[in-house]
Amino acid sequence: MARIADILAGRQPENSEVEAAGWVRTRRDAKGFSFLELNDGSCLANLQVVAEEALPDYEVVRRAHTGAAVAVRGLLTASLGRGQKWEVKAAGLRLLGEADPEAYPLQKKRHSDEFLREIAHLRTRTNKFGAVFRLRSRCAWAVHDFFRQRGFFHVHTPIITGSDCEGAGEMFRVTTLPGGGPAAEDFFGREAALTVSGQLEAELLALALGRVYAFGPTFRAENSNTPRHAAEFWMIEPEMAFAGLGENMDLAEALIKHVVADALETGREDLALFDRFVEPGLFARLENLLAEAYVRLPYGEAVAILKASGRKFEYEPAWGMDLQTEHERHLCEVHFKKPVVVHDYPLALKPFYMRLNDDGRTVAAMDLLVPKVGELVGGSQREERLEVLRGRMADLGLDQAAYWWYLDTRRFGSVPHAGFGLGFERLLLLLTGLGNIRDVIPFPRTPKSLEF
Ligand code: 4AD
Ligand code: MG
Repeated sequence: MARIADILAGRQPENSEVEAAGWVRTRRDAKGFSFLELNDGSCLANLQVVAEEALPDYEVVRRAHTGAAVAVRGLLTASLGRGQKWEVKAAGLRLLGEADPEAYPLQKKRHSDEFLREIAHLRTRTNKFGAVFRLRSRCAWAVHDFFRQRGFFHVHTPIITGSDCEGAGEMFRVTTLPGGGPAAEDFFGREAALTVSGQLEAELLALALGRVYAFGPTFRAENSNTPRHAAEFWMIEPEMAFAGLGENMDLAEALIKHVVADALETGREDLALFDRFVEPGLFARLENLLAEAYVRLPYGEAVAILKASGRKFEYEPAWGMDLQTEHERHLCEVHFKKPVVVHDYPLALKPFYMRLNDDGRTVAAMDLLVPKVGELVGGSQREERLEVLRGRMADLGLDQAAYWWYLDTRRFGSVPHAGFGLGFERLLLLLTGLGNIRDVIPFPRTPKSLEF
């Protein structure tokens, strides 16, 4: 069975016999013959099949309604019709699976994203969602390529954990006790949860292997029903020993540019769909992401720009307050019109592990903000000085005994190191122009929603 992508790319000789299979997108009946448009998911385009009424298998065509699965054998010929270069003149047809035209929900018309989310088990059979999930796969390859080219080791950090890396308390509890019960009697003999970030373990590994990255699922029980938050999402988390904040920013910018360039090169056909139907001008926006150096802006200057903007924000900008989405968007969409890395945030806004700056009131943190999406990356240089780290943990009331392994890396051969987390789905929003994270995850998990 040939992939339709290979056939349409001209990888099969003209006038050779080919065998392909796919789902019927449309059928048109003319006098004496029918056209079937088959899509097998391997690419956006369909394979046109011409089936003459005289064919012994023509009975199959009558039952090949939209959504049915059909296999075809026949001669590959240059198409005279407009819109496609190749078509197959059917010599034999098989109906692999019927689809009742009364019941099949994906008839040939535009469906809303909201409706398609309700039938996420079938939406990948549409042009748009086929393109989304092919692109998602390509981007994942590109991420691995990027790190491999730079000598980073791929590490697998645990999904079940006993520590809350971000300290935000938004963890999903893992338990085998029906109806709950004392943690001491639970499976692990203590409280367990799904990880919110692989960072702490990635740090341990970086302090042995040098440069590592984790790329896996992370979970957050934040009850924020926004188009940018999911309860289960994938994070790319590199960690570099012997590196500081500058190298961390360089790495984040290079990673984004690498994935964008790769998508433009290998995913053009799919991106063209988004450029046409989702965000006209997408290609130009993506080319811009490659062309320019991203802005690097200390938090204090970011606040000054916001204050001087003369804009009325819902939350008045002031030194010491966290940047809200409205502020982040102003910086990268209105003021600079390109990605902005805000760095050196006030100590009080950031988790315990970020390195304290010499001013004593800011930490070596960085957030990379991009137009349309907002925060895409969050990271920092890590506090490598044992006593400073202990002091921070004490201030925040963290139980140091529980982090003995983390503190050990600062006791024995501690070195400067840095890393970040990049939300993979947000990167896909940036690449597709789509506005809702639910549309770049095959089966999204969000508050009050756990279908499929
Ligand atoms: O800024 P965050 O919370 O950083 C960390 O978790 C660090 N421990 C990472 C590290 O330094 N290794 O999350 C990192 C990124 C965010 O910038 C955002 O892109 C994404 O993860 N993210 C989410 N994406 C989808 N849904 C959510 N609920 C997300 N929360 C964070
Ligand atoms: Mg963050």
